[in-house]
Amino acid sequence: MIYSNALSDMLRRPRRNRRTDAIRGMANETHLTVDHLIFPLFVLEGKGIRSEIKSLPGIFRFSPDELLREIESCMNLGLRSFILFPAVAESLKDQTATYSYHPENFYLHVAREIKKRFPECCLISDVAMDPYSSDGHDGLVRDGAIINDETLPILAQMSVAQAEAGFDMLGPSDMMDGRVGFMRRALDEAGHYNTGILAYTAKYASAFYGPFRDALDSAPKHGDKKTYQMNPANKREALIEAELDTLEGADMLMVKPALHYLDVIQTLKSASNLPIAAYHVSGECAMLRAACQNGWLDFNRAMPETLISLRRAGADVILTYFAKDYAEMQRS
Ligand code: PBG
Repeated sequence: MIYSNALSDMLRRPRRNRRTDAIRGMANETHLTVDHLIFPLFVLEGKGIRSEIKSLPGIFRFSPDELLREIESCMNLGLRSFILFPAVAESLKDQTATYSYHPENFYLHVAREIKKRFPECCLISDVAMDPYSSDGHDGLVRDGAIINDETLPILAQMSVAQAEAGFDMLGPSDMMDGRVGFMRRALDEAGHYNTGILAYTAKYASAFYGPFRDALDSAPKHGDKKTYQMNPANKREALIEAELDTLEGADMLMVKPALHYLDVIQTLKSASNLPIAAYHVSGECAMLRAACQNGWLDFNRAMPETLISLRRAGADVILTYFAKDYAEMQRS
C-alpha cells in the first residue's frame, strides 16, 4: 500500500525523455559536427614521408606532397579546417627565428600550395618562435630571460609572411603581452585586414604538450615556460587575458589545454561574445589513445564523449588530433 502511494506521488520522471532514440534525439542539448573541428597537422621538408609520432600514435609528420594527399582525404570527409605546424631542421634554427619569415621557408611554400589546391579550406598557422628558435622558447632569450617587447616585431614579421602565404587565420601561441594588437596593426598596415586572429588567450604552462614537442623537436633547451604561459591554478587571470585580447582585436579566443580546463572554457564562454576555441592538446589525446590501445577503453565511445564534453562546456570550435577519426566515424 505504502509503495503504490509513493508511485502515484511521483509526477516528474526524467527517464521519460530518455526512453527511445527519437525522444533522446529531441532532448539532446549539444551537437558536434565536423564544422566545429580543426585538425592539427605537422609538416616537414622532404618527399614521400609519413612519419608517425611515437608519443601520439595515429598522428604523422608529413612531407608537403603527403600533406596535400592527407588534406584532400580530410576535405572528402567534410573536414575543412586545419592548423599547420612545421618541424624545422635544427640547422635552420637560430636565436631570432629568422627562418620563420625566410622567403625560401618550405612551410610558407606548402601553405601557398594548399590554398591553391583547396581555396575553400580554412588554413590556420601558429605564430610563435619555438619551432624556429635554437633556444626552444616562444620568445627572444637574453641572459636566460624571455624578452617580451623585442619578441613582438619578430611575431609581426612572421605574421605578415604567413598572411602573404595565404593563411586564413593566425594563432599567436606564445603568451607574450601585447602580441595580438601588435600583430593586428602589422597585418592591417600590410593590407591583410581579412586575416583573422585566433588568440591563444588562456594557454597554461602544461605538462600535456609533451607529444607535440616530440613531433617538432621543440622542447625548451633550458628552463620552462612558466614566465609566459599561465599558472594552471588560475582562472580569473584568464579573464584578464580575454579582455586584453578582445580589446587588441582578436577574432576568437582559445583555451589550452582543453579537458583539464573545462571550467575555464565555461568562464570565457559566459564572459565573451567572441567564438571560443578549445585546444584538446597532444598529451590529452595521447592519454586516451594509449588507454584504448591497451584495450582499457573503447575508442569509438570514449573519443566522441570527450569531444562532446568540450562542446558542452562552451567550446564553439575544437582543435583535436581526433578530428579525422571523428569525421570518419560520422561518415560510416
Ligand atoms: C607552440 C605550441 C605548443 C603547442 C601548440 N603551439 C607547445 C608549447 O607551447 O610548448 C602544443 C599543442 C599540443 O600539445 O598539442 N607555442
